[in-house]
Amino acid sequence: MSILRTVKRGAAVGAVTLAAFSLTPGTAFAQGDPSGPSTKIVGGTPAEQGEFPFMVRLSMGCGGALYAQDIVLTAAHCVDGSGPNTDIQVTGGVVDLDDPAAQKATSTEVLQAPGYDGTGKDWALIKLDKPIDQPTLKIAETNAYDNGEFDIAGWGADQEGGSQQQQLLKAKVPFIDDATCKAAGGSYGNLVEDEELCAGLEPGGVDTCQGDSGGPMFRKDDAGEWLQVGIVSWGEGCARPGKPGVYTEVSHFAADIKTAAGQLGG
Ligand code: ARG
Repeated sequence: MSILRTVKRGAAVGAVTLAAFSLTPGTAFAQGDPSGPSTKIVGGTPAEQGEFPFMVRLSMGCGGALYAQDIVLTAAHCVDGSGPNTDIQVTGGVVDLDDPAAQKATSTEVLQAPGYDGTGKDWALIKLDKPIDQPTLKIAETNAYDNGEFDIAGWGADQEGGSQQQQLLKAKVPFIDDATCKAAGGSYGNLVEDEELCAGLEPGGVDTCQGDSGGPMFRKDDAGEWLQVGIVSWGEGCARPGKPGVYTEVSHFAADIKTAAGQLGG
Protein backbone atom coordinates (compact mmCIF):
# COMPACT_ATOMS: atom_id res chain seq x y z
CA MET A 1 0.00 0.00 0.00
CA SER A 2 2.75 2.46 0.81
CA ILE A 3 4.39 2.03 -2.57
CA LEU A 4 1.08 2.45 -4.32
CA ARG A 5 0.37 5.63 -2.42
CA THR A 6 3.80 7.04 -3.08
CA VAL A 7 3.61 6.34 -6.78
CA LYS A 8 0.21 7.89 -7.06
CA ARG A 9 1.09 11.03 -5.15
CA GLY A 10 4.23 11.50 -7.22
CA ALA A 11 2.30 11.19 -10.41
CA ALA A 12 -0.50 13.50 -9.37
CA VAL A 13 1.77 16.42 -8.78
CA GLY A 14 3.48 15.98 -12.09
CA ALA A 15 6.83 15.52 -13.65
CA VAL A 16 8.76 17.87 -11.41
CA THR A 17 8.73 15.54 -8.43
CA LEU A 18 9.02 12.32 -10.37
CA ALA A 19 12.73 11.93 -9.80
CA ALA A 20 12.36 11.99 -6.04
CA PHE A 21 10.65 8.72 -5.33
CA SER A 22 12.49 6.80 -8.00
CA LEU A 23 15.59 6.95 -5.83
CA THR A 24 14.47 3.94 -3.83
CA PRO A 25 17.61 2.06 -2.82
CA GLY A 26 18.62 -0.52 -5.34
CA THR A 27 15.96 0.35 -7.88
CA ALA A 28 17.19 3.24 -9.97
CA PHE A 29 19.52 2.60 -12.87
CA ALA A 30 22.10 5.25 -13.56
CA GLN A 31 21.52 7.21 -16.77
CA GLY A 32 23.34 5.44 -19.56
CA ASP A 33 24.19 2.43 -17.46
CA PRO A 34 24.54 -0.35 -20.04
CA SER A 35 23.35 -2.92 -17.51
CA GLY A 36 20.12 -0.97 -17.05
CA PRO A 37 16.96 -1.55 -19.06
CA SER A 38 16.99 -0.51 -22.69
CA THR A 39 15.47 2.92 -23.16
CA LYS A 40 12.08 4.24 -24.36
CA ILE A 41 8.51 4.23 -22.69
CA VAL A 42 10.59 1.68 -20.93
CA GLY A 43 11.85 -0.66 -23.64
CA GLY A 44 9.95 1.06 -26.46
CA THR A 45 10.53 2.92 -29.71
CA PRO A 46 9.30 6.27 -31.12
CA ALA A 47 5.72 6.26 -32.43
CA GLU A 48 5.13 7.51 -35.99
CA GLN A 49 3.27 10.80 -36.50
CA GLY A 50 -0.41 9.84 -36.79
CA GLU A 51 0.06 6.26 -35.59
CA PHE A 52 -1.97 6.77 -32.38
CA PRO A 53 -3.90 9.97 -33.17
CA PHE A 54 -6.10 9.65 -30.08
CA MET A 55 -3.13 10.15 -27.70
CA VAL A 56 -2.96 13.39 -25.71
CA ARG A 57 -0.53 14.82 -23.20
CA LEU A 58 -1.87 16.57 -20.09
CA SER A 59 -0.04 19.47 -18.45
CA MET A 60 0.11 17.88 -14.98
CA GLY A 61 2.40 15.22 -16.46
CA CYS A 62 -0.03 12.49 -17.47
CA GLY A 63 -1.30 10.93 -20.67
CA GLY A 64 -4.85 10.49 -21.89
CA ALA A 65 -6.94 9.38 -24.84
CA LEU A 66 -9.67 11.17 -26.78
CA TYR A 67 -12.92 9.51 -25.71
CA ALA A 68 -14.65 12.23 -27.72
CA GLN A 69 -12.96 15.10 -29.53
CA ASP A 70 -13.73 17.30 -26.53
CA ILE A 71 -13.48 14.68 -23.74
CA VAL A 72 -10.27 13.03 -22.53
CA LEU A 73 -10.24 9.73 -20.63
CA THR A 74 -7.38 9.63 -18.11
CA ALA A 75 -6.59 8.27 -14.64
CA ALA A 76 -8.38 9.44 -11.47
CA HIS A 77 -4.99 9.82 -9.77
CA CYS A 78 -3.99 12.42 -12.39
CA VAL A 79 -6.70 14.87 -11.27
CA ASP A 80 -7.64 16.48 -7.97
CA GLY A 81 -11.37 15.81 -7.85
CA SER A 82 -14.51 16.71 -9.74
CA GLY A 83 -15.92 20.06 -10.77
CA PRO A 84 -15.14 23.11 -12.89
CA ASN A 85 -11.44 23.16 -13.76
CA THR A 86 -9.55 25.44 -16.13
CA ASP A 87 -6.06 24.36 -15.04
CA ILE A 88 -5.28 21.48 -17.40
CA GLN A 89 -3.63 22.10 -20.77
CA VAL A 90 -4.12 19.35 -23.33
CA THR A 91 -1.84 18.75 -26.32
CA GLY A 92 -2.93 16.48 -29.15
CA GLY A 93 -2.37 15.62 -32.78
CA VAL A 94 1.41 15.28 -32.56
CA VAL A 95 4.06 12.81 -31.45
CA ASP A 96 6.55 15.66 -30.80
CA LEU A 97 5.19 17.89 -28.05
CA ASP A 98 7.16 20.85 -29.48
CA ASP A 99 5.72 20.41 -32.98
CA PRO A 100 4.12 23.75 -34.00
CA ALA A 101 1.25 21.73 -35.51
CA ALA A 102 0.18 20.61 -32.01
CA GLN A 103 -3.47 21.16 -31.19
CA LYS A 104 -4.04 22.66 -27.75
CA ALA A 105 -7.12 22.81 -25.61
CA THR A 106 -7.88 23.68 -21.98
CA SER A 107 -10.03 21.85 -19.45
CA THR A 108 -13.39 23.27 -18.47
CA GLU A 109 -14.55 20.50 -16.14
CA VAL A 110 -13.20 17.31 -14.55
CA LEU A 111 -15.19 14.28 -13.51
CA GLN A 112 -13.20 11.92 -11.28
CA ALA A 113 -14.55 8.37 -10.88
CA PRO A 114 -17.28 8.40 -8.23
CA GLY A 115 -16.01 6.74 -5.04
CA TYR A 116 -12.34 6.96 -6.05
CA ASP A 117 -10.20 6.55 -2.91
CA GLY A 118 -6.79 5.58 -4.28
CA THR A 119 -7.54 1.89 -4.76
CA GLY A 120 -9.14 0.78 -8.05
CA LYS A 121 -11.60 3.06 -9.93
CA ASP A 122 -8.63 4.85 -11.47
CA TRP A 123 -10.40 6.75 -14.24
CA ALA A 124 -11.50 10.33 -14.87
CA LEU A 125 -12.89 12.42 -17.71
CA ILE A 126 -11.76 15.91 -18.68
CA LYS A 127 -14.05 18.16 -20.72
CA LEU A 128 -12.22 20.51 -23.12
CA ASP A 129 -13.01 24.08 -24.12
CA LYS A 130 -12.74 23.10 -27.79
CA PRO A 131 -12.46 19.87 -29.75
CA ILE A 132 -9.15 18.36 -30.78
CA ASP A 133 -9.64 17.43 -34.41
CA GLN A 134 -8.34 13.84 -34.29
CA PRO A 135 -9.88 10.35 -34.32
CA THR A 136 -11.19 9.16 -30.96
CA LEU A 137 -10.46 5.81 -29.25
CA LYS A 138 -13.34 3.41 -28.64
CA ILE A 139 -13.46 1.85 -25.18
CA ALA A 140 -13.98 -1.88 -24.54
CA GLU A 141 -17.48 -2.66 -23.32
CA THR A 142 -16.84 -6.32 -22.49
CA ASN A 143 -13.78 -8.18 -21.21
CA ALA A 144 -13.56 -10.18 -24.46
CA TYR A 145 -10.40 -8.28 -25.43
CA ASP A 146 -8.70 -8.50 -22.03
CA ASN A 147 -6.15 -10.93 -23.40
CA GLY A 148 -3.34 -11.19 -25.89
CA GLU A 149 -0.86 -8.47 -26.65
CA PHE A 150 -1.54 -4.82 -25.84
CA ASP A 151 -0.09 -1.55 -27.15
CA ILE A 152 1.06 1.15 -24.74
CA ALA A 153 2.25 4.68 -25.53
CA GLY A 154 3.23 7.78 -23.62
CA TRP A 155 5.57 10.71 -23.04
CA GLY A 156 6.58 9.44 -19.58
CA ALA A 157 9.95 8.32 -18.27
CA ASP A 158 11.98 5.98 -20.46
CA GLN A 159 13.40 4.23 -17.42
CA GLU A 160 12.74 4.16 -13.70
CA GLY A 161 13.80 7.60 -12.46
CA GLY A 162 14.29 8.80 -16.05
CA SER A 163 13.06 12.03 -17.56
CA GLN A 164 9.83 12.82 -19.38
CA GLN A 165 10.02 12.48 -23.16
CA GLN A 166 9.37 15.04 -25.89
CA GLN A 167 8.64 12.28 -28.42
CA LEU A 168 5.81 9.80 -27.96
CA LEU A 169 7.15 6.30 -27.27
CA LYS A 170 5.35 3.03 -27.82
CA ALA A 171 5.75 -0.63 -26.87
CA LYS A 172 3.82 -3.89 -26.63
CA VAL A 173 3.11 -5.84 -23.45
CA PRO A 174 1.27 -9.14 -22.97
CA PHE A 175 -1.76 -9.73 -20.72
CA ILE A 176 -1.04 -11.19 -17.27
CA ASP A 177 -3.86 -12.96 -15.44
CA ASP A 178 -5.02 -11.71 -12.03
CA ALA A 179 -3.68 -14.71 -10.07
CA THR A 180 -0.19 -14.32 -11.54
CA CYS A 181 -0.33 -10.57 -10.96
CA LYS A 182 -1.39 -10.94 -7.32
CA ALA A 183 1.43 -13.40 -6.79
CA ALA A 184 3.92 -10.61 -7.57
CA GLY A 185 3.49 -9.71 -3.89
CA GLY A 186 3.63 -6.32 -2.18
CA SER A 187 0.96 -3.94 -3.46
CA TYR A 188 0.00 -6.49 -6.10
CA GLY A 189 -1.55 -8.59 -3.34
CA ASN A 190 -4.23 -5.88 -3.05
CA LEU A 191 -5.06 -5.96 -6.76
CA VAL A 192 -8.75 -5.12 -7.29
CA GLU A 193 -9.41 -7.99 -9.68
CA ASP A 194 -12.63 -6.65 -11.24
CA GLU A 195 -11.30 -3.16 -11.68
CA GLU A 196 -7.64 -3.69 -12.60
CA LEU A 197 -5.82 -5.47 -15.40
CA CYS A 198 -2.13 -6.39 -15.44
CA ALA A 199 0.31 -6.52 -18.34
CA GLY A 200 4.06 -6.94 -18.71
CA LEU A 201 6.89 -9.30 -19.47
CA GLU A 202 7.97 -11.74 -16.76
CA PRO A 203 11.67 -10.76 -17.14
CA GLY A 204 10.72 -7.05 -17.16
CA GLY A 205 12.35 -4.55 -19.51
CA VAL A 206 9.17 -3.21 -21.15
CA ASP A 207 6.57 -1.17 -19.25
CA THR A 208 4.81 2.12 -18.80
CA CYS A 209 6.44 4.41 -16.25
CA GLN A 210 5.98 7.70 -14.37
CA GLY A 211 4.25 10.24 -16.61
CA ASP A 212 2.52 7.61 -18.72
CA SER A 213 -0.33 7.45 -16.21
CA GLY A 214 -3.75 8.13 -17.59
CA GLY A 215 -2.71 7.06 -21.06
CA PRO A 216 -4.45 4.20 -22.80
CA MET A 217 -3.52 0.54 -23.12
CA PHE A 218 -5.15 -0.65 -26.33
CA ARG A 219 -5.27 -3.32 -29.04
CA LYS A 220 -7.10 -4.07 -32.26
CA ASP A 221 -10.61 -5.55 -32.02
CA ASP A 222 -11.94 -8.26 -34.34
CA ALA A 223 -12.89 -5.57 -36.85
CA GLY A 224 -9.30 -4.32 -36.88
CA GLU A 225 -10.10 -1.09 -35.04
CA TRP A 226 -8.22 0.28 -32.03
CA LEU A 227 -9.97 -0.46 -28.76
CA GLN A 228 -8.99 0.84 -25.31
CA VAL A 229 -8.82 -1.93 -22.69
CA GLY A 230 -6.77 -0.17 -19.99
CA ILE A 231 -5.64 3.11 -18.42
CA VAL A 232 -2.07 3.35 -17.08
CA SER A 233 -2.42 3.26 -13.30
CA TRP A 234 0.53 1.99 -11.23
CA GLY A 235 3.38 -0.47 -10.75
CA GLU A 236 6.24 -1.10 -8.35
CA GLY A 237 9.00 0.78 -10.09
CA CYS A 238 9.04 0.36 -13.85
CA ALA A 239 9.84 -2.69 -15.96
CA ARG A 240 11.20 -4.66 -13.00
CA PRO A 241 11.28 -8.45 -13.40
CA GLY A 242 8.11 -10.04 -12.02
CA LYS A 243 6.47 -6.61 -11.35
CA PRO A 244 3.78 -6.00 -14.00
CA GLY A 245 2.17 -2.73 -14.95
CA VAL A 246 -1.34 -2.33 -13.51
CA TYR A 247 -4.06 -0.74 -15.64
CA THR A 248 -7.65 0.28 -14.96
CA GLU A 249 -9.90 -2.40 -16.49
CA VAL A 250 -11.84 -0.13 -18.83
CA SER A 251 -14.58 -2.60 -19.75
CA HIS A 252 -15.65 -2.82 -16.10
CA PHE A 253 -16.31 0.93 -16.09
CA ALA A 254 -17.57 1.37 -19.65
CA ALA A 255 -21.16 2.06 -18.63
CA ASP A 256 -20.07 4.50 -15.89
CA ILE A 257 -17.74 6.30 -18.30
CA LYS A 258 -20.51 6.65 -20.85
CA THR A 259 -22.89 8.06 -18.24
CA ALA A 260 -20.21 10.44 -16.96
CA ALA A 261 -19.46 11.66 -20.48
CA GLY A 262 -23.16 12.39 -20.93
CA GLN A 263 -23.10 14.50 -17.77
CA LEU A 264 -20.22 16.50 -19.26
CA GLY A 265 -22.31 17.19 -22.29
CA GLY A 266 -20.44 14.68 -24.44
N1 ARG B 1 1.54 6.10 -11.61
C1 ARG B 1 2.41 6.34 -12.74
C2 ARG B 1 2.10 7.70 -13.35
O1 ARG B 1 1.44 8.47 -12.73
C3 ARG B 1 2.36 5.25 -13.75
C4 ARG B 1 3.14 4.11 -13.30
C5 ARG B 1 3.07 2.97 -14.22
N2 ARG B 1 4.06 2.06 -13.72
C6 ARG B 1 4.32 0.89 -14.25
N3 ARG B 1 5.31 0.22 -13.75
N4 ARG B 1 3.62 0.42 -15.24
O2 ARG B 1 2.63 8.08 -14.36
